[in-house]
Amino acid sequence: MSKETLRLDRLLSNLGYGSRREVQQMVRNGWVTLDGNDLTDPNQRIDLAPDLRERLLVDDEPLDPLPGLTLMLHKPLGVTCSHKETGPLVYGLLPERWRQREPTISTIGRLDKESSGLLLMTDDGMLLHRIISPKSAIPKRYRVTLARPLRGDEAALFASGELMLDGEDTPLLPVPMETLSPQSATVTLVEGRYHQVRRMFAAVGNHVEALHRDRIGALDLPADLPPGEHRVLGDAELALVLPPR
Ligand code: URA
Repeated sequence: MSKETLRLDRLLSNLGYGSRREVQQMVRNGWVTLDGNDLTDPNQRIDLAPDLRERLLVDDEPLDPLPGLTLMLHKPLGVTCSHKETGPLVYGLLPERWRQREPTISTIGRLDKESSGLLLMTDDGMLLHRIISPKSAIPKRYRVTLARPLRGDEAALFASGELMLDGEDTPLLPVPMETLSPQSATVTLVEGRYHQVRRMFAAVGNHVEALHRDRIGALDLPADLPPGEHRVLGDAELALVLPPR
């Protein structure tokens, strides 16, 4: 037995299956089974064991991931990392039920509406803060396509730790840059200042036409994860983002 238990009706309603009243009715209808047996008492305490998902079925389907859910999304262009703005939101790309979960799922940092690539999301507030904390200094790699050819001095300037962005009073931490072609490069940031990559290239007289994040820590966006799709992260993948303390 794991130490953590939760009432069945609370577990299901927290996972977005319906209001307390609705999930109580689902249980009484016999739609919820544990190890093949119908559960009939919505007040029954359920042991939140790691293998619960396979053992507890709702309408013959495995239970959704338990709280402590972290996932990666291949963010497409044109969707916003926000709970409240109008227009298409990244949360709209997740299963409908996941949008009703408590605790809620939030993005770990943000990508601009017009940026694509690897976006992490979690319902674990402590994890979120550890990953975005400046103390963790987790590197994030971006592939940049530019409107004009590189001048040739950008890598040295970005690596210098002396580049000051417009309207700011502290220079950027050093940013390693690798040139891929005359008009494309990767840059790896450990900070996340507002529109940082776009503003860095604006500071050297260029313009970012396309921006794609392909790596966070040592976790790569998988080549077989299409834009708009997500995947739940296991402990091993999470350890690539944030090595265990
Ligand atoms: N820098 C930007 O300018 N935009 C992003 O989405 C991420 C980093």
